Amino acid sequence: MSIAIVSDIHANIEALEAVLEDIREKRIVEIYCLGDVVGYGPNPRECLLRATAFKKTLMGNHEEAVLYYAEDFNDKARAAIEWTRAQLNAPDRPKDENYRLWNFLDSMERTAMLGDGAMMVHASPRMPTREYVLPKDATNAAKMNALFGAQPVPICFAGHTHFPGVFTEDLRFRSPKDLEFEYRPDGTKALVNVGSVGQPRDGDPRASYVIWDGGRVRFQRVEYDVEATMAKIRAIDALPEFLAGRLSRGR
Ligand SMILES: [Fe+2]
Repeated sequence: MSIAIVSDIHANIEALEAVLEDIREKRIVEIYCLGDVVGYGPNPRECLLRATAFKKTLMGNHEEAVLYYAEDFNDKARAAIEWTRAQLNAPDRPKDENYRLWNFLDSMERTAMLGDGAMMVHASPRMPTREYVLPKDATNAAKMNALFGAQPVPICFAGHTHFPGVFTEDLRFRSPKDLEFEYRPDGTKALVNVGSVGQPRDGDPRASYVIWDGGRVRFQRVEYDVEATMAKIRAIDALPEFLAGRLSRGR
């Protein structure tokens, strides 16, 4: 059975709706989310409410920051976290819906096993909500060996960096394009980054996600109304302009 794995929605409801439509058209019903449903974007409530219907949603560092403290966030990200927290406490929204959203955040786990030789985290197998594994890290043998050492199964799906692609034990990173948008695990370990739905940073502004059928990863890109999301961000004083501008550049 095929499942869809999404990550880093970042409160971008236009991108999320476009991806959900694409998933529906492919007749896939099970959706897993690797965290960062909120943060940066203008629609945290709407995105969290959609995510409650997913099979599972893991905790990302932005959920951690909203729940606890945005200690290691830069000023722009922290401004968005504080605004997000206020949105989830909005006095003009139904109280029971506010409770439901907070309980949902609080219920998110940091790792999950898929049962077919695959697992999921937000960031990395050794630091599930924190560690950045970027394409430039692929040749760092000490880092990659430690990561794969902390990964008990052949495939680990992650998000966090907003750069889709596959890291393998032979110290290589391959982008979806390098892989012709498909990766078939060969029994050695792989860390598969699914990219970001709501704030891609690989130079392609389209929303990114993957489909996994137990034997093959297929990388997907979906167009959405970027201008609409940018206009919403610009209309909210607490969200820095930088967060709007980067969406159209995919950076
Ligand atoms: Fe993120």
